[in-house]
Amino acid sequence: MSWKTAPLNSIALRLSALFILVAMAVFLLIGSALYRQVDRSLDLLPRAELNARFSVLESTLNRFGTPEHWAKINNKLNLLSEEDKRIRFWVVSSNPAFEYGHPSELVRAFGEGPQGMRDLRLPDRPYPYKVLVSELPALGERPPLRFLIGIDTETFWQAQHSLLVAIVGLAVLGVLLASLLGYWVARIGLRPLLALSNEAQALAPPRLDGRLQTQNLAPELAQFAGAFNAALDRVSQAYTQLEAFNADVAHELRSPLTNLIGQTQVALTRGRSAEHYFEVLQSNLEELERLRSIINDMLFLASADQGSKATALTQASLAEEVATTLDYLDYILEDAQVSVSVSGDAQAPIEKAQLRRALINLLNNAVQHTAPKQSIHVHIEAGPEQVSIAVSNPGPAIDDAHLPLLFERFYRVDAARSNSGGGNHGLGLAIVKAIALMHGGEVFVSSVKGENTFGIRLPATRRSGPSSPLLAT
Ligand SMILES: Nc1ncnc2c1ncn2[C@@H]1O[C@H](COP(=O)(O)OP(=O)(O)OP(=O)(O)O)[C@@H](O)[C@H]1O
Ligand SMILES: [Mg+2]
Repeated sequence: MSWKTAPLNSIALRLSALFILVAMAVFLLIGSALYRQVDRSLDLLPRAELNARFSVLESTLNRFGTPEHWAKINNKLNLLSEEDKRIRFWVVSSNPAFEYGHPSELVRAFGEGPQGMRDLRLPDRPYPYKVLVSELPALGERPPLRFLIGIDTETFWQAQHSLLVAIVGLAVLGVLLASLLGYWVARIGLRPLLALSNEAQALAPPRLDGRLQTQNLAPELAQFAGAFNAALDRVSQAYTQLEAFNADVAHELRSPLTNLIGQTQVALTRGRSAEHYFEVLQSNLEELERLRSIINDMLFLASADQGSKATALTQASLAEEVATTLDYLDYILEDAQVSVSVSGDAQAPIEKAQLRRALINLLNNAVQHTAPKQSIHVHIEAGPEQVSIAVSNPGPAIDDAHLPLLFERFYRVDAARSNSGGGNHGLGLAIVKAIALMHGGEVFVSSVKGENTFGIRLPATRRSGPSSPLLAT
């Protein structure tokens, strides 16, 4: 992944989007609080100013009750209006001699209203006047008056407006800055991840020995890199096994093919009798059958690797299955002069054909490794969770180093037996293991006191096995 072409769901973009949201929320909160505070102060200002003006004028207004004196007041109000154009004065009275400011009908009606601070909208002004209405009692010739001091709120509105513009502008700028900074910070924060992914990109078959560096990594990434390395270990192990398997397959197929070609070439060097050809063909047939058996076994293991499960399960007696298998192996046992005893029994859900195949492999091995006149013992044990079938035969101890490997494909203790043409290609126990795994079970082996035991454990009741036998190895 490159930063230049960061897709929409990139972490850096998501983080900066979060930054934007957070910045927007913060600016909105601070901005509205600030605006409300300033707005309240701006509302207080004209009130304070009007009250101050009124308190200055009040005593003067209340002192004069004749039209002559009133003229002085008019002058004073004129002067004050001149001084500050925002301020306007009106005096509304039943006697025009005691009026001021040429109050229009609108002002007159407003003045007649309740006393105190109110907003007055004048037709020629865009913003309302804040007006303090006070009543002055009659004095001498003067009737009771309504005295109005108004202040144009335009400047306050404008101040408020510029404040709003400033706050919104600053917020937009702040959000913009926060998003840029957020993206930058996210990129810096994610840089180790990019380095890690570059490192990971360099790891590909056949170079599977490399691992991600976990030193000096942030703990979150070190954990990820550790898990990634562990996955690589497993992949690398599976890859090595696969490579070895391929080599073994080629090796195993080569010897029957070499035999076939050799025998056929020799037979063709000169004219032969029909009997000779018959013998050659028969020998070739044996080799071809051997080839077919290897290929069938490999196909079976391949389907097991792909997660094939024993599905056609039937509840059956294992002792009965052993007995049926022994019937099938009758001639082989007789040939080898080996006897078999069976003890115990258990019921388990099994796919009969598969279990018999496993039993044939186990018993065949036992027969091959038992001296004539000796006896093989099959012991079936029923447990609450699992049932087991153990096939034991007397024989020389198997080295501990071999035991865990015997169920591997093409593994034989005696390397000399491989490709000997004796019909053993080292897949028998691998198939036993695959069958056990397909049933959700496992295999076991032991070599104790001159007795070698190979067996399988199966679930006593129906349950699902591991998803892939290969991964379970
Ligand atoms: N009962 C046993 N006693 C001693 N060694 C055994 C026994 N069963 C298996 N082994 C060892 O385990 C190896 C692997 O057995 P496995 O059945 O997989 O292959 P194989 O018998 O050599 O060939 P295949 O079964 O494919 O014809 C054997 O070569 C043998 O060395
Ligand atoms: Mg075998």
